[in-house]
Amino acid sequence: MTDLKNFFKQHFGSWPVHRVQAPGRLELLGNHTDYNRGLVLSLAVDRNLEMASAPRKDGKIELVSSAFPEKERFACDRIEKNDSAAWAGYVKGVLLQLRQRRVNFTGFNAAIRSTVPLGAGMSSSAALEVATALTIRRLFPFTLSPGGIATPPKRNSRGELPPLSKPEKLALAGVCRNAESEFVGVNCGLLDQISCLFGKASHLIEIDCQHLTVEHLPLPPGVGVIVCDSGVKHELADGAYNALRRECESAARALGAASLRAVDAARLQANKTRLTEREYQCAYHVIGENHRVVCAGRALWDGDLAQLGEYLFESHASSRDFFKNSCPELDLLVDLARAQPGCLGARLSGGGFGGATINLVRESEAERFSQEIATKYEEQTGRKLSPSRCRLVDGAG
Ligand code: GLA
Repeated sequence: MTDLKNFFKQHFGSWPVHRVQAPGRLELLGNHTDYNRGLVLSLAVDRNLEMASAPRKDGKIELVSSAFPEKERFACDRIEKNDSAAWAGYVKGVLLQLRQRRVNFTGFNAAIRSTVPLGAGMSSSAALEVATALTIRRLFPFTLSPGGIATPPKRNSRGELPPLSKPEKLALAGVCRNAESEFVGVNCGLLDQISCLFGKASHLIEIDCQHLTVEHLPLPPGVGVIVCDSGVKHELADGAYNALRRECESAARALGAASLRAVDAARLQANKTRLTEREYQCAYHVIGENHRVVCAGRALWDGDLAQLGEYLFESHASSRDFFKNSCPELDLLVDLARAQPGCLGARLSGGGFGGATINLVRESEAERFSQEIATKYEEQTGRKLSPSRCRLVDGAG
């Protein structure tokens, strides 16, 4: 916090009044299932975005981020895109969504620092969206309700607000998701935002995107989570992500289903001829992923780590061969991981087309795993790899 406070002071000349933090996330299983009303297993990780803020009286909003050289300054009543500070779009998108729900805010300053890597599939964008929504709540308290806003929460004698209820967290996740689809242009699901808000130390998060329920499952002791950033940047707004979503939705329509969640493997096979080849491949992947999330939950309860890991390898193969959202570097990382002793499972995590793999590795082998995979990846691609251990942490607040 001291660093963040100083960073704020350096830019704005006074101390911040509030500070919020929002973690990055990894997807363990359930790839591209969220917008198909499916199931996901994810985790919030110890890579953090922090936002310090203070109100101002002139109706202006000024943002500064340690990750980008450009400051962004705009008026509360003129929130528009600015290509030369594209990163601020995630903040502006959330502000517009809140305003649509009649949340009243005036000017403020905010300084952002983050250890969530950019473009590595750990959802730095959701962390920024969620931190923005929480900052506005601190500065201008509000309660979201299905119809807009309800009576705002009251601060206690220490000036603190009550913690967010589960429905409020879900509503905030929805606001942040809509900001991403309507302002930034990525028509994503709720995985990133829910994971960021619902993280729990040492636990996985199981999300049902049809019934909007969130459960926590303990990660068995002795298992390390290691993330390997391929160094290939993914750019979800480039249309590839939205195109996959369109294929999934048209597959569901052709099958006469409200979503792919409603379709099982037998129905898909029986109706294969109604689908284009691409629709079939996408549906096959998503239906398989939903199934793997259910089975992985059982494996976790049974402590069957080998089986759990196998589902990760299967998921990656399905991404590579059917959904086609992998890339040669991610495939290589998974192959190299599989050859390491102590590696239980590995797969691409998140949207795909680059970014990172998630690896479940026996703790006793974690060190050796990281060294070996880094050496081999560099030998074969010429790219540096810095495998890094992730702890499962609490959600944003
Ligand atoms: C990105 C999106 C999520 C989800 C994943 C793939 O992270 O933001 O909503 O669709 O890809 O599972």
